[in-house]
Amino acid sequence: MLYYTNTYLLLLLSPLLTLVWAAKSTIPTGVVNNGYIVEFDRSPSESTFFQHDIRKVRYTYNSKLLNGASVEFGDSVSAKAALAHPDIINVWPVSHHSRPSGLSDDTAQEFTNQAFNIQPFSPEQVPLLTKSYNEAYRELGVNGTNVRIGIIDSGVDYRHPALGGCFGSGCKIEFGYDLVGDDYNGTHESVKEDNDPLDNCPPTAAGATGHGTFVSGLIGATDTRLNWTGTAPAASLGMWRVFGCNSQLATTDVFLKAMEMAYEADMDILNLSFGKDGGWHEDVIAVLADRLVSQGVHVVVASGNIGTSGIMLTASPATANGVIAVGASMNTQLPGFILNVFNNKEDVLNIPYRTIVNQPISFNQSLSLKSIKDSCSEFNEDKYKNTITLIQDNNECDLMTKLQHAKNANVTIALVYTNSNETAEPDASTSNAQLPVGFINSVAGESILNYIEKKGATQGQFTRSLVALVSPKSEANRLASFSSLGPTNELALKPELTATGGDMFSTLPLYKGGYGILSGTSMAAPLVTGSIALFLSALNENQRKEVDPETVKTALMNFARPLGSPLSNLRQYGDSPIRQGAGLVSVARAIQGYKQFHVSPSKLSFNDTEHFEETQTITINNNGDKDLTFNLVHGPALSVHGYDTKNASNPTPIEPVSFSTKDNSIASISFEKQQQIQVAPGKSVEIQVTCKPPTAFDTDSHAIYGGYIAIETADKSLAASIPYIGMVGNMAQLPILDRSSAGVYPFPSIGNYDGTILKENETGKFTPLLQPTVLVRLLTGTPLLDLQVVQEKGKKVIGSIPFNELDQNQNRAWLPRNTRTITSSSSIFHEYKWDGQIQPIKGDERYVKTGTYRIRVRALHVFGDRENDQDWDEWVSPPLYMDMDGDSNKKKEGLDDDIPLPIPTTTTAAAQEPSNSFNNHPDATHFSEATPSPLKNGEEDSAVESGNQGFTASVGL
Ligand SMILES: *[C@@H]1O[C@H](CO)[C@@H](O)[C@H](O)[C@H]1NC(C)=O
Ligand SMILES: *[C@@H]1O[C@H](CO)[C@@H](O)[C@H](O)[C@H]1NC(C)=O
Ligand SMILES: *[C@@H]1O[C@H](CO)[C@@H](O)[C@H](O)[C@H]1NC(C)=O
Ligand SMILES: *[C@@H]1O[C@H](CO)[C@@H](O)[C@H](O)[C@H]1NC(C)=O
Repeated sequence: MLYYTNTYLLLLLSPLLTLVWAAKSTIPTGVVNNGYIVEFDRSPSESTFFQHDIRKVRYTYNSKLLNGASVEFGDSVSAKAALAHPDIINVWPVSHHSRPSGLSDDTAQEFTNQAFNIQPFSPEQVPLLTKSYNEAYRELGVNGTNVRIGIIDSGVDYRHPALGGCFGSGCKIEFGYDLVGDDYNGTHESVKEDNDPLDNCPPTAAGATGHGTFVSGLIGATDTRLNWTGTAPAASLGMWRVFGCNSQLATTDVFLKAMEMAYEADMDILNLSFGKDGGWHEDVIAVLADRLVSQGVHVVVASGNIGTSGIMLTASPATANGVIAVGASMNTQLPGFILNVFNNKEDVLNIPYRTIVNQPISFNQSLSLKSIKDSCSEFNEDKYKNTITLIQDNNECDLMTKLQHAKNANVTIALVYTNSNETAEPDASTSNAQLPVGFINSVAGESILNYIEKKGATQGQFTRSLVALVSPKSEANRLASFSSLGPTNELALKPELTATGGDMFSTLPLYKGGYGILSGTSMAAPLVTGSIALFLSALNENQRKEVDPETVKTALMNFARPLGSPLSNLRQYGDSPIRQGAGLVSVARAIQGYKQFHVSPSKLSFNDTEHFEETQTITINNNGDKDLTFNLVHGPALSVHGYDTKNASNPTPIEPVSFSTKDNSIASISFEKQQQIQVAPGKSVEIQVTCKPPTAFDTDSHAIYGGYIAIETADKSLAASIPYIGMVGNMAQLPILDRSSAGVYPFPSIGNYDGTILKENETGKFTPLLQPTVLVRLLTGTPLLDLQVVQEKGKKVIGSIPFNELDQNQNRAWLPRNTRTITSSSSIFHEYKWDGQIQPIKGDERYVKTGTYRIRVRALHVFGDRENDQDWDEWVSPPLYMDMDGDSNKKKEGLDDDIPLPIPTTTTAAAQEPSNSFNNHPDATHFSEATPSPLKNGEEDSAVESGNQGFTASVGL
């Protein structure tokens, strides 16, 4: 057909582009054009598949994990033909995964050089900052010897003395490969493999984060100079490098190759500190992660960093059934730096200060140190010019106002003292302050005031000396607010475990100064990885052969320590398992506990009330050589509200979640045997556990309850616990389509090609090039979003807007719900353009005739049956008049229903153009303010306490 040729399309598109498509999307979701990962039912060398017209074979996979290949076709027609090959049993798109990234797009500063003084103020500082990582090594002497740990990440600077200084046999970093090279930019053309996974990027390169070096240090550093180690300092490490120096992108097929190589190199454990948010586990990396587990490899995955966006967003592959998904808690010690306060060099006060970015304030001279009492009004006096000025953060006015006044007075550095005598929490809302700000606590503030009063003229000098400060009570051993929440969309309990991941100290490449402080679930997963290595190295050879990944996961979960409640008024309840899993990993407890007993399964889901499985069986296994007697105890945890259901017709996800504080908001658990349970050595006993959901909630609430079943030895010397969850109500009844008009756009709706919204009582006028856009916002994840085309005359469904399940630009399968802010892999809403093509119920794709149509948007409920109309949430658009000849200035033949059109190859060209016009609406960023806010603190519900929030600096997944 002449209708769409490349030049024709591009010519017509170019004026439009400037008009409508203003800016590029910030979310890298692209698939590689006509790139597919195929799985064969035989080895690649035996398949005739490769006789097809394939432009490029990028990789072949030939292991127990996957027989297949990653291939690129010249166009979609040859792709379609080849993918019908009978040897093929699975197909996935080759898509881009972005590098582990943080909470916002503005993450650049989290990875800037951390050139603080590594000569700490006193020698205990680094051991204090790192003591949560290496407790078991220090206390039990187990060290991970004879265990191989594979890491798939950004490479490692093994020249770092704490990482052994060398690569290869006999070195700490013993295995690995560079799959991509320094100049890799996400395209296959830029791949330059070699057998050295060194990260030696130019320090200024955009992607030179040092992430892999940091993760390696947390797992296995041995640092004799600063006197600290990673979790498993004697383990052998392998690094498979998948990110280049300058780009945020790598493709799925590269990850798969790295997983295959690590498997072939006989890694016992794999650390994956990356992922794609969303709560589904259907993508190829999750599939491969599960296959690795089936082959006996322990796979540990970061759960994601969008905890403030609410429930059900665990990243894939952390969502995979067999892996251990790891959330992050805050460290018990926080990094600070030293400010010297003096009026003569002999009488120096050492004041610890903190900054939002966990980096010292860089100012080489000493400055006059002043204090200002009332900074709520301007204080433009000369004496504050070029000084450090001490400002109190009280509630008289906003801190940013005070800082602006300081700036106006030409203060050089503001020193803010808080109202609390606990370690100061830098106020993240001041990240845009116009001058450097240091934070100190009330004790330090007062001591400076006294000093000034006693001594008169006072000087201050900010140093780069690192100190460890005790975390505030509201933070220590509590979940980090950035840690992504479970469960999966299918109500599987995630994460499995928590480890410290907020404010971590570890190694960075030498070109970045060698050490740094970072936060994220990326930093928590390595501690669980190291813990598994310790667990394995504590077993004798026979025991080690017997334990599979599920058993080790169970032991670590059994003997984890549940974290404290996030609500100070409800300290008797633990935090929810959908936030913390089994709790904070404690491998020392697991090693000691497992010698005596363990309890399986590792976790229970009673499911939603509709599919309620009220009675389940747990098994106590006596692993020791004497009789054990147990008591069963129920430890309830807070119930979580993931949805604001006050407006029953449009429940919206609460971001961040809130907790129920009603008395009857906890489940009750009863046990089949009330009396003490005896288990003989080497034997096991099964016990039935029955759950009664909390009575506080009606079924519309969709509250998620949970808690812990503790199995305690009669002498109370040891207890194992099993986390459980359930949902009140029917998961499948949660609405999927947002029908609010609180945001910049009403949802669902039809976007006109000029960026306006088609009104309900209008008939839109469109052509194949001046296309309508369907705008949809999902409140819940959906396995399938179907966009049906209904003929206005006769109201007949004639087909659906085609989509390629393999094309993520327009993909409509396994969609995560939308979030209130754009994150590294979630968006505020989805948009789909329609050029008049349909996939009829029977037959090939074709274009509709000129005429009037409506779009019926249908989203399938989780667990829904596609054949059952009741299982879809639907909305019907206003009428759309499609003028199929409207783009042509010359007369064209009418398009006949009976002539199937080939898929125009130019759709891929169009897909490459920036197409997120609606997401880039200038008001789109205000959406989060326009949506209803989460439930306010009230009688029944309270949001997360503010002490647990506000963590925005230095977060990488
Ligand atoms: C090293 O740190 C440990 C605590 O982790 C401490 O007991 C020991 O004294 C420190 N050694 C030196 C030489 O400072
Ligand atoms: C990526 O690198 C390749 C080869 O080095 C180059 O041809 C291509 O233009 C680059 N692409 C981008 C988006 O930078
Ligand atoms: C690790 O522990 C083993 C004993 O279990 C010991 O032989 C080895 O020297 C230790 N290695 C290190 C680096 O501490
Ligand atoms: C602060 O500096 C600016 C620019 O140098 C100057 O215009 C202003 O008068 C100064 N303000 C005070 C209070 O010194």
